[in-house]
Amino acid sequence: MCPVNAEELIRTRAAQAAPAIFPSVRMRRLRRTEALREMVRETDLRPSDFIYPLFVTHGKQSKKEISAMPGQYQWSVDLLPAEIEEMAALGIRAVLLFGLPATKDEFGAEAYDSGGVVQQAIRAIKRAVPDLVVVTDVCLCEYTTHGHCGVVREGYVQNDPTLELLCREAVSHAEAGADIVAPSDMMDGRVGAIRAALDESGFSNTPIMAYSAKYASAFYGPFREAAQSAPQFGDRRAYQMDPPNFREAMREVELDIAEGADIVMVKPALPYLDVIRGVRERYDLPLAAYNVSGEYSMVKAAAEKNWIDERRVVLEVLTSIKRAGADLIITYHAKDAACWLARC
Ligand code: PBG
Repeated sequence: MCPVNAEELIRTRAAQAAPAIFPSVRMRRLRRTEALREMVRETDLRPSDFIYPLFVTHGKQSKKEISAMPGQYQWSVDLLPAEIEEMAALGIRAVLLFGLPATKDEFGAEAYDSGGVVQQAIRAIKRAVPDLVVVTDVCLCEYTTHGHCGVVREGYVQNDPTLELLCREAVSHAEAGADIVAPSDMMDGRVGAIRAALDESGFSNTPIMAYSAKYASAFYGPFREAAQSAPQFGDRRAYQMDPPNFREAMREVELDIAEGADIVMVKPALPYLDVIRGVRERYDLPLAAYNVSGEYSMVKAAAEKNWIDERRVVLEVLTSIKRAGADLIITYHAKDAACWLARC
């Protein structure tokens, strides 16, 4: 028998089709087994999504645990290669370095010293695992006596005089071998200034990952112990963003892109998933999200009390950040998560 013509076929099918609701539709059909769930999974987390933050300090054979961040340490440079090799073996491709200087001063001189602790760490890591991506945090707060992210005059963080110091710091990191520089200070114009400084110094191939939408967040609490960077007076609300603002974050991102950022960032991550989604929908650049110290410490504390299942909570948190739209996740959970993803 010759088949009915197409038009007729469509008409009969349409007439027979049940409305797309229960009981013909059953959402649970594709949730029945792990194999089915895996086939329709929309977001997948990989160790190469992670950037692992590390705190480096002067001295030798020193690995000091940060009390508010169980499982995180201040590392002396000589102990870094072993940690980095372990991390790389788990499939993590990048680290983010923070430095604890030998001495602090008003202008944060060690930040842009070729013999500074971060510069030493970059060289040591590059020798140990040359293809690991070394990202450096470009900021002054760890290096200044007052603990602010810029030059302070009359109790106010001065924007334009700070730019010069940030440029010196970024160039010094690039000279030591950093693959990406990441300014976290929130001064206006710093991405453009750093781009120009890198280009003039022969580092036109060094990308900038801008902490674009960085909020003045209470979730940085444990980090300030880790990096000894708490402001000695006042707070950072005159340069970091006000938590209630979303549209302002879009402007920050837009400006950083215009100034030459290669990767933009939202920070913190979990309390700002809407901002991550907003940036993803509006812009096409790679997007990083920083799952910050306080987000980490809350999970660790609850897990220590056996109030939550750490493994499941961590993977759920990181998956949510990715689902919201982040391509890269800076997280202290990186090693554990990479291990769990490999089912070890
Ligand atoms: C430096 C800097 C901070 C963090 C990253 N870079 C602290 C701050 O701005 O006070 C926070 C990271 C974290 O909490 O994990 N400006």
